Amino acid sequence: MSSVAEFEETARERLDPVYYDFFAGAAGDEITARSNVDSFARLCLLPRVLRGSDKRDLTIELLGSRASMPILVAPTAFHRLAHPDGELATVRAAMAADTVMIVSMAATTAIEDVAAAALEVTPEPELWFQLYLQPDLDFSEAIVRRAERAGVKALVVTVDSPVLGRRERDDRHGFHDLPPGMVVENLRNLRGGEPGHVRQIAMSAELSWEHIAWLRQLTALPILLKGVLHPEDARLAVRHGVAGLIVSNHGGRQLDTVPATIDALPEIAEAVAGAVPLILDGGVRRGTDVAKALALGASAVGLGRPVLWGLAAAGQDGVARVLERVREEFDHTLALCGAASPLDLTADLVRSYR
Ligand SMILES: Cc1cc2nc3c(=O)[nH]c(=O)nc-3n(C[C@H](O)[C@H](O)[C@H](O)COP(=O)(O)O)c2cc1C
Repeated sequence: MSSVAEFEETARERLDPVYYDFFAGAAGDEITARSNVDSFARLCLLPRVLRGSDKRDLTIELLGSRASMPILVAPTAFHRLAHPDGELATVRAAMAADTVMIVSMAATTAIEDVAAAALEVTPEPELWFQLYLQPDLDFSEAIVRRAERAGVKALVVTVDSPVLGRRERDDRHGFHDLPPGMVVENLRNLRGGEPGHVRQIAMSAELSWEHIAWLRQLTALPILLKGVLHPEDARLAVRHGVAGLIVSNHGGRQLDTVPATIDALPEIAEAVAGAVPLILDGGVRRGTDVAKALALGASAVGLGRPVLWGLAAAGQDGVARVLERVREEFDHTLALCGAASPLDLTADLVRSYR
């Protein structure tokens, strides 16, 4: 079975370079995107011996959802650019792997269709919905109701995008909207019958904690904030009653030169002190990365680009193989660290010598 890096190679060969660069690219000089990966590599695992187990249990419970491993599918836009089956392929693979898929609001498949495909695989689909809160609250409410009706179990509000990041690869290609025949299906017909163009997703710098309070009274679903990096914001989030945080820098696609997520995690974990679960995404490519994130305080990690590489390389089967590969690597890492479950991964198993 191929590693994530090999899937990326295949995806790069298969994809139109414009779409490859949309998936691979990041903001500015892409310093943060690189450091997400490099910072994982710089950290060492310091394993324990003579205390492991032949039977390892990777399952986790997270905000009322159950996953067979602490490895989730992070929300990414436009899966039909990677493969004609798009989000339907991704969700089938994620549900077969028995894990959580966070479906992007900017999906090229409607959330109802994603949910229906999930239900064909499992009676208890673990789908969460990622939301860009819109300053037009009626519009935001309509999309939340749609996600609720589709049966999602949590809302992930992305808060690192008051404006869109500057991605120079996209600028060079002039890539700013979907090709003909593809739209952001979750926006279709929500606002006066507009067809669902990407530019209808309003990024708003006016969003504030009041909008989170508004969302909390609107829905009974657990709310996670995605894109929190400052420990003070993590404290504020807990005070505002959010159910969980995703420590994320959007894969380096928003503000360049923010820290790698694995470097930001310990301070956030300290600030939150176990009050809410933390999920980390950004740069997770190997089972050893998963172990480091869990040891430093995450309950689970999200995979962004690796899932897209699997999808572009081989559709549903490719996503399935990426998820199984990272699962298998993580299990192997647990064994080599003398751990029997994610809970055995403690901060003393990670060191920085450089
Ligand atoms: C092509 C692409 C599209 C993305 N689209 C979204 C999105 O629609 N909403 C969102 O909250 N994050 C989005 N993200 C960010 C991911 O959720 C995640 O934070 C990031 O990909 C994690 O880093 P990784 O790609 O190194 O795993 C996107 C990332 C990529 C690469």
